[in-house]
Amino acid sequence: METLPLDLSNAIDRTLAPLNLDQLRNDCFELSQRYANHKFIETEGHRQAYIAARLPATYGATRQVFRRIEPYLANVKSLLDLGSGVGSLAWAAREAMPQLQRVTLFEKDVELLRLGQHLTEDRLFPLQLSWCRDDLTTEEIYPLHNVVTVSYVLNELSPKERLFVLDRAYSAAEKLLILVEPGTPEGYSHILTARQFLTERGARIIAPCPQNGLCPIAPLYKEGKDWCHFSVRIPRGKYHRRAKQGALPYENEKYSYLVVSPLPQPTPKARIIKAPMRKTGHVILDLCNDKAELERITVAKSEGENYLRARDAEWGDEWENYSHS
Ligand SMILES: C[S@@+](CC[C@H](N)C(=O)[O-])C[C@H]1O[C@@H](n2cnc3c(N)ncnc32)[C@H](O)[C@@H]1O
Repeated sequence: METLPLDLSNAIDRTLAPLNLDQLRNDCFELSQRYANHKFIETEGHRQAYIAARLPATYGATRQVFRRIEPYLANVKSLLDLGSGVGSLAWAAREAMPQLQRVTLFEKDVELLRLGQHLTEDRLFPLQLSWCRDDLTTEEIYPLHNVVTVSYVLNELSPKERLFVLDRAYSAAEKLLILVEPGTPEGYSHILTARQFLTERGARIIAPCPQNGLCPIAPLYKEGKDWCHFSVRIPRGKYHRRAKQGALPYENEKYSYLVVSPLPQPTPKARIIKAPMRKTGHVILDLCNDKAELERITVAKSEGENYLRARDAEWGDEWENYSHS
């Protein structure tokens, strides 16, 4: 479960409290219909619906991606967040990057920047935040930062704009470029395109893939059978629950992601790419391994330590003992 920091969820609740609940419910519904039809945030109601219904999910996805690459974040001092929306990623970065000093946020919608500033005030102090109104598709060079993030944004760009932004984002990333997209077939396809584009430029993959060659899931995706994605459970906030009327108090957000570096990096032997199946006396794991193969292994209770690890393993974790199949 990835829960919003209390000071952020309180700030969201205070912002939404004066709103008419029926209107918020309609706006949440309309926003989700718009996303399904490739239309995006336009009105004040959409912005409010975003912080009620979508922000906790994108926060949760980015927070979980940061957990997957924790050792790489220990010395990060600067972060550039492209298409920042209201800046929820900066909150996740504060939790995950102990040395972080400054965050630059590029966002084209000035009202989202205002709302982000309102939610944040000085709550991220001593982080130095620079909120910049900026259209990513017209900026020739992005400023250098240790880490560059593009979270739930590629989906809103045309294919040509996507490559334009990826090219500049990668050039601006001194240590890491992190992409996160919805865990839909379409989201995965944007990650797959980015993966090919960036590895052709020499980028080294850190996660989720254990190797830089072809993605073994890509042929399955082309046949409409599968796509690479992960899942994070997030609690629904007070107003999201009210807007959804009686829905569960949590939801599972599916996401696809890619983390690359311009520098050589060690990669794991394999990653668990589906929810582990825990049976009586054994666990079944679906892996993507460093030989660009998909494999299913069974870890039996008789394997002792290995079994205990498999029993505790989660979808998305690295797996080092895959030779035990
Ligand atoms: C779905 S929201 C994601 C916001 C945030 N990154 C998150 O993870 O919650 C997509 C954001 O990208 C911004 N965006 C889309 N195209 C953009 C562009 N060309 N330049 C700057 N921002 C852009 C939108 O205004 C919106 O705030």
